[in-house]
Amino acid sequence: MSKGEELLTRYEKEVEAIWRDMTPKSRALGERAEEFTPGGALRSHSTGTYLAYCDRVDGSHMYDVDGNRYIDLIVGMTSIIGHNHPKVAAAVQKQVPKGLVTFMPDEGWDVLAEMMCSRVPSVEKVWPAFGGSQAFMWAILAARAHTGRQKILKIWGGYHGTYDDAFAMPPKASPGLPENTLDNILMTNWNDPEGTEKIIRENKDDLAAVITEGVQTGGTIPPSDGYLTFLREQTEKYGIVLIFDEIVNFWLDHGGTGALYDVKPDLCVYGKGIGGGLPMGLVGGHNDIMKLFSQKEAFRIAAIAAHQGDPVTVAASTACLDIMTADAIARINSNGELLADGIRGVLRDVGITGQVIGYGNHQSVHLTTADEVTNPVAYLMNANKPGLREAMALFRRSLINKGVITLEALMALRVSTPLTESEIETTLAAMRESFMEIHPILKEVAPDLVA
Ligand SMILES: Cc1ncc(COP(=O)(O)O)c(C=O)c1O
Repeated sequence: MSKGEELLTRYEKEVEAIWRDMTPKSRALGERAEEFTPGGALRSHSTGTYLAYCDRVDGSHMYDVDGNRYIDLIVGMTSIIGHNHPKVAAAVQKQVPKGLVTFMPDEGWDVLAEMMCSRVPSVEKVWPAFGGSQAFMWAILAARAHTGRQKILKIWGGYHGTYDDAFAMPPKASPGLPENTLDNILMTNWNDPEGTEKIIRENKDDLAAVITEGVQTGGTIPPSDGYLTFLREQTEKYGIVLIFDEIVNFWLDHGGTGALYDVKPDLCVYGKGIGGGLPMGLVGGHNDIMKLFSQKEAFRIAAIAAHQGDPVTVAASTACLDIMTADAIARINSNGELLADGIRGVLRDVGITGQVIGYGNHQSVHLTTADEVTNPVAYLMNANKPGLREAMALFRRSLINKGVITLEALMALRVSTPLTESEIETTLAAMRESFMEIHPILKEVAPDLVA
């Protein structure tokens, strides 16, 4: 066993011992879940060798069933208004006595629809779904119906939910997906205009849509100068539908990332935090495509579902949009930069090379060089190097042991509206300790990253 492996093994034991001590009830619940649920506990982001079970969430905190309190930098992927916002709770409580699902048009949807259309410069009409994946399924359906073409161009490192074509990535369809799904999927690299231009040009007659995010969520890598404008110009030139995935990054700007980077996509897809904590999805865009959703059109897509636009979710979503004013977004963006600067300072102090990148309230920490971090493929190869990957996973588990919960892998950090400056300080103090703990390990497994 190398010295690095030895240190990793010892540190793993220490982190695990603390975790087991903190969370006996979660452990028991996890064991029980094995009996009835495939794979046991739900959720794919680990919190340790087994998952913490949540008792309740509130504001910027998560409380587990063992009585531990965590600063929550995931916020329900990503309820950026924090948990249980009183205005959302009040809107839901007002609607509940009036009914949960009516299968009628409900009063209230008009307010939400108008808010979205006046908020997002490229959106003229919106249509409700009940989650990001379903909204994506319909956006892709609309793009294909509009263009009469089949192929979709996606960007490596992006994730757009679990609908077949949104999920499928070459070289192999994932289990259960027909192999021929891949016939319609093309991939390109983020921030690579030359490579992307070539693929678009060569497939211009077959491409229905190009799907992108404004800031790539996998690693929170911002677009290089002009990349999104370039995508807009190319898609416009060949009549391809440009779809922006705003599911995670809508909250970076009052009008979403399209407004932030001054690009008008044809369609935008919303989900997650847009529901204020309830499962909402939306497709929005130009009327010439959105009319395909109209029940009055003979040529229309099948974008209907029993629960879409239910009045409780619509009420929660409307309250959420009300809360997320331009000022509220400016404040969390500035807090996000405060956190990012703080982490850069911690890394400098402890002598570890790392990059903190992202935009405003959405940041990630990458233990890598500045060059590599702008290239998701190179970055992922580095981050997955044996030793470094394990050290980062243990870093994150050690943070959780100290009461700070983040997403794994790329350590996406979301700064929500209730997160205070003092909680940012607490987070930085925990990070300092955990980075110091992994420093001797990094010296062995990634010596180029430590001073
Ligand atoms: C960027 C992005 N797009 C789409 C989705 C899919 O949304 P949902 O999980 O609501 O289906 C996700 C979910 O993780 C996401 O992060």
